[in-house]
Amino acid sequence: MSGTGIRVRRAEPADVPGIVEVIHTAFAARPVLDPPSTQLQEDADSVGRAVAGAGALVALAPDDTIIGTILLADHGERLGLHRVSVLPSHQGEGAAVAMARAAEAEASARGHVGTELGARVELPPNVEFWRRLGYAVIDRAGPHLTMARELPVVLELATADDTRAAGARLAALLRAGDLVILTGDLGAGKTTFTQGLGEGLGVRGQVTSPTFILARTHPSLGDGPGLVHVDAYRLGGSDELDDLDLDTALGTSVAVVEWGEGMAEALAADRLEITLRRRRGSESVPVAADDDLADTDPRELVVTPVGPRWVGAGLAAAVHDGVVGRAN
Ligand SMILES: Nc1ncnc2c1ncn2[C@@H]1O[C@H](COP(=O)(O)OP(=O)(O)OP(=O)(O)O)[C@@H](O)[C@H]1O
Ligand SMILES: [Mg+2]
Repeated sequence: MSGTGIRVRRAEPADVPGIVEVIHTAFAARPVLDPPSTQLQEDADSVGRAVAGAGALVALAPDDTIIGTILLADHGERLGLHRVSVLPSHQGEGAAVAMARAAEAEASARGHVGTELGARVELPPNVEFWRRLGYAVIDRAGPHLTMARELPVVLELATADDTRAAGARLAALLRAGDLVILTGDLGAGKTTFTQGLGEGLGVRGQVTSPTFILARTHPSLGDGPGLVHVDAYRLGGSDELDDLDLDTALGTSVAVVEWGEGMAEALAADRLEITLRRRRGSESVPVAADDDLADTDPRELVVTPVGPRWVGAGLAAAVHDGVVGRAN
C-alpha cells in the first residue's frame, strides 16, 4: 500500500484482458526503439500463459482497476521481471516501485537469490530508475541490458558457534575494500560474528570487543586482506569516523563497523548491511542487560547486499554454505 492507495496483488486469470491493455497502453507512450521492443506482441494467449505459469503481479488503483503489471518468469537462480508497465495516466504514483518490491518478496518466498530484468540503453531514465532500486547491469548485448538485484539472505543461528561459522563462511567472499556494517542490539552477536570473519580471513590477533579502542587492525597472516574492526558505539558521528581514515585501510583490508548504521554508509557505495536479532520463538526480542537468557536465545542474521559488487557474487551460497535459497 502506498500513499496513493495503490495495491499490488498476484494476477488471476480474470485479469488477463486488463493486463494486456496496460502493457499495450504503456508501450504506446514510450519512444520507438530500434530494434523495437517485442512488448506489442503480448496478447491474451501469451499473457494467459504467463499468469498460469510463473505468474504476474498487478497494481490496482483505489477503484480496483488495473494500472500496472509485471509478468514473472523463472530464470533459475533469479526471478525474471518482464513487461514492467504502468499506465501513463498513473505514472509517478509509486506503482512501479510497489510492484518491484512485491516481485522481490515473491522471489524470496520462492527461494530465488535475486531478481533480474531487461532494460534498454536508449532509455536512461528507465535504467536510472532500476539503479535507484538497487539493480546493477550484469550483462549487455547491443542495446539490451540485463539488470539484477541480489536479495537479502536470512539465516537462523542457534548458537554462538553458528554465528562465528556464518562469519567465517562470509569471509571466503570478502576482499580488500569491502565494507560490512553490523547492526544489532547490545549483545546481539556483532563481535562474535566478526570473530568468525577474522578466523575465515586468517588474520593476526584475537578479535575482541574494541571497547576502549575505536578501531583495531588485524593484518592478514597470509596474502589475503586484513581486517579493520571498528566499534562506532562511542563515536560522535561521521566526522569522527572520517578521522579513522578507513578509506586508506580499505586499500588492503576488509572493514567491519559495529554500530555503523547511519554513519558508515557513506564510506562505500558497495557494502553489506548485516543485522543480528535475538529470536524467541518467532518473536524478535530486545536485549536487557540483566537478561541471562541472552546467551541461549538464537539469533537471526539478515545480510542485505548493497551495490553492484554483490550482484552475482554468490552471497546466498556463501552464507548458507553452498545451499542456495531461503531468504525472506
Ligand atoms: N547465535 C547465538 N546464540 C546464542 N548466543 C549467541 C549467539 N551469537 C552470539 N551469542 C552470544 O551473545 C553474547 C554477546 O555477543 P557479542 O559480544 O558478539 O555481541 P555484540 O553485538 O558485539 O555486543 P555489543 O553491542 O556489546 O558490541 C556472547 O556471549 C555470545 O556468545
Ligand atoms: Mg561488540
